[in-house]
Amino acid sequence: MPSLNLVPASTGDYRRLAEKRLPRNLFDYLDGGAYGETTLEANVEDFENIQMKQRVMHDVSKIDTHINMFGNDMAMPLGLAPIGLAGMMARRAEVQAVKAAEKAGIPYCLSTVSICSLEEVAKAATKPFWFQLYMMRDRAYVKGLLERAKSVGCQTLVFTVDLAVVGARYRDVRNGMIGGLSPFGKLRAGLEYPTHPKWAFDVGVKGKPHVFGNLADFVPSAKSIIDFKAWVDAQFDPSCTWKDIEWLRSIWDGNLIIKGILSVEDAKAAVAAGADGIVVSNHGGRQLDSVSSSINMTPRIRDAVGDKTIIIMDGGVRSGQDIVKALANGAQSVLIGRPWIWALAARGQAGLDALLRTFKSEMNVSMALTGAPKIADITSKILDTD
Ligand code: GLV
Repeated sequence: MPSLNLVPASTGDYRRLAEKRLPRNLFDYLDGGAYGETTLEANVEDFENIQMKQRVMHDVSKIDTHINMFGNDMAMPLGLAPIGLAGMMARRAEVQAVKAAEKAGIPYCLSTVSICSLEEVAKAATKPFWFQLYMMRDRAYVKGLLERAKSVGCQTLVFTVDLAVVGARYRDVRNGMIGGLSPFGKLRAGLEYPTHPKWAFDVGVKGKPHVFGNLADFVPSAKSIIDFKAWVDAQFDPSCTWKDIEWLRSIWDGNLIIKGILSVEDAKAAVAAGADGIVVSNHGGRQLDSVSSSINMTPRIRDAVGDKTIIIMDGGVRSGQDIVKALANGAQSVLIGRPWIWALAARGQAGLDALLRTFKSEMNVSMALTGAPKIADITSKILDTD
């Protein structure tokens, strides 16, 4: 018997609600991955295949999920990953996200290619949030962006390094997001907006302006993903190397996290280049397909860089159980991307607040029933590896 499905309980429930709410092309842009989506699937499946070891008769009356990162307290080892175009999925999504993150006591990372600008998000925030940067060809613009980030109080920069070129997402191609639409195709694609009236009113009308808040001078309109793609292709700098990190370091004196590391060699290079932390990531399976899942690579990278470097991982985290599994595999913290925007698209900030509470309670239960009441207790010993 199917449930009544009156109240969303899990990340998957918010995904289904977001799928109903969003025009198909936007949902697919968010949900899809590169090429055959094998890495996208592996990110989730490899978490599912990790088993924890049930332990009993430990005193688990007090569970503590707090961690400290860069001198800041986090209520749990989780942050909201940067997502481009979030404000097209939910009304002023970046503002809602920073509020939800603060309420849950976790960091929010604003994307370079957000709809809401640094300044708009800062107005809603009461604490420093993180800022994510892509290296653009126009270094003066990069410098200007970092100055803006600094002046609104950002102390942590997440520098994304796995987008030198853009992986093709076949769902976007099929939906005509990359062009090539016949007149009938244009009509069919256009029908997605009136047939999703809740989104059309809430985001399409009330969520304006639809421009890249941080890049208004560069990309005047984010109305179509075709504009976005054209801009990405033209502006992201494929010549960027570790040398550029030196330059970045010379103009950014805050914390620097390098995101998009998926090999031991690159992890070591990032540390050598002066990163304070790395994000083990394959960009949510949106870039090179047929690479390792992030969770599979995490323990190898931890072994290679040792305990001094902060390791965050993203890709495939769908529950509080997954956070515990990631920590047991050597991460200090995780990021979620799709789950937070599914929840916001489905139910607004109330949805994201509820999802974050769910992650926290799932972590609590996982820690209690593996006999690991403190974060430091979460080691590979809580995994069933036999
Ligand atoms: C951009 O970062 C994307 O994954 O679409």
